Amino acid sequence: MSPTTTHQMSAAAVTTPSASDPAGALVIGRHDTPEPPAGWARIDVRAAAINMHDVWMLRGVAPLPGPWPCILGSDAAGVVDGREVIVYPVAPASPSDPARPRTTVAQGTLLSDVGPGLLAETAAVPATHLIDKPAHLSWSAAASLPTSWLTAYRMLFTKGRLRAGDTLLVQGAGGGVATAAVMVAKAIGANVIVTSRSAQKREQALALGADVVLETGQRVPALADVVIETVGPATFSHSLAATAPGGRVVTCGASTGFTAEVDLARLFAREISVSGSTMGTLEEFAALVALVERHQLTPVVDSTVPLDRAPDQVRRMLSGDAFGKLCVSMP
Ligand SMILES: NC(=O)c1ccc[n+]([C@@H]2O[C@H](COP(=O)([O-])OP(=O)(O)OC[C@H]3O[C@@H](n4cnc5c(N)ncnc54)[C@H](OP(=O)(O)O)[C@@H]3O)[C@@H](O)[C@H]2O)c1
Repeated sequence: MSPTTTHQMSAAAVTTPSASDPAGALVIGRHDTPEPPAGWARIDVRAAAINMHDVWMLRGVAPLPGPWPCILGSDAAGVVDGREVIVYPVAPASPSDPARPRTTVAQGTLLSDVGPGLLAETAAVPATHLIDKPAHLSWSAAASLPTSWLTAYRMLFTKGRLRAGDTLLVQGAGGGVATAAVMVAKAIGANVIVTSRSAQKREQALALGADVVLETGQRVPALADVVIETVGPATFSHSLAATAPGGRVVTCGASTGFTAEVDLARLFAREISVSGSTMGTLEEFAALVALVERHQLTPVVDSTVPLDRAPDQVRRMLSGDAFGKLCVSMP
């Protein structure tokens, strides 16, 4: 998909990735407005959210698709032909056939991996990827749903098979996936334990509805049926130790590194299942948004800044101080 019009818009883009200064690599500038091809729609973005995926791209770890400078961003809410919508963030299998879904979401390619992303005033998105925005959500709260909340939804239900009355352990309190997991699990009647290194974040997790909060690595009061693992080696051993016989550890992230130790005796003696999870299907996204509307859940937004301050949100994400999603509003 190549921009062909002479209309211009503001967007956050990267030309030269930087492993040492990813926030500095995110540059706000004027770009051609993408022209939607057949089957795609133009969205006037009202708010977008930042993800670790954007940071991987800014660092040069994840490949950048061009055209250059490459506009980042996968999560957005906005207006298409007067309709208030949220964008399903997984790229279609083929840009020329956007209604054909991927055969597996484990491929996990986001819209910004295949073309200009959504950290922009305007973007082109597959017309099939639009879900009506629940009326109770602000633009920033709506833009928080696509990546983190969808990932949490699939981890909890499709992979973790969480049910009312189950015990859920969430490692790390402040991340977008973690805050989503706590709120969704409480909404369906699970018992939720959250760990965090920070006393302040433990308090915030309690305020979100967690039943028990613990310091990272602390012994759990009840073994978990399902564990939400986004942290990686810093918590993985504890996740296995805290899982009940027959329980499920579901991992989607590796914020502290990609190699973790596994106590095999614990794994087989307790018949624990460990599974990976990435993003979710369009059907799961629609089910998530319906659940959010039914339970009137409001995603936790750490902060929203104007587009020209988007690099500040990357810095805040890397600081580890954020609690909830980091959002950007459009001019
Ligand atoms: N596969 C997918 O589809 C997918 C989708 C979304 C995200 N992810 C991945 O999931 C991970 C989480 O992303 P996120 O945006 O939700 O949150 P995040 O901002 O990356 O933070 C996750 C949590 O990690 C914890 N943490 C960080 N360093 C730690 C350490 N040294 N020891 C213990 N805990 C530590 C923090 O907990 P406390 O500060 O509370 O201790 C924080 O709440 C990332 O790796 C991201 O790439 C994957």
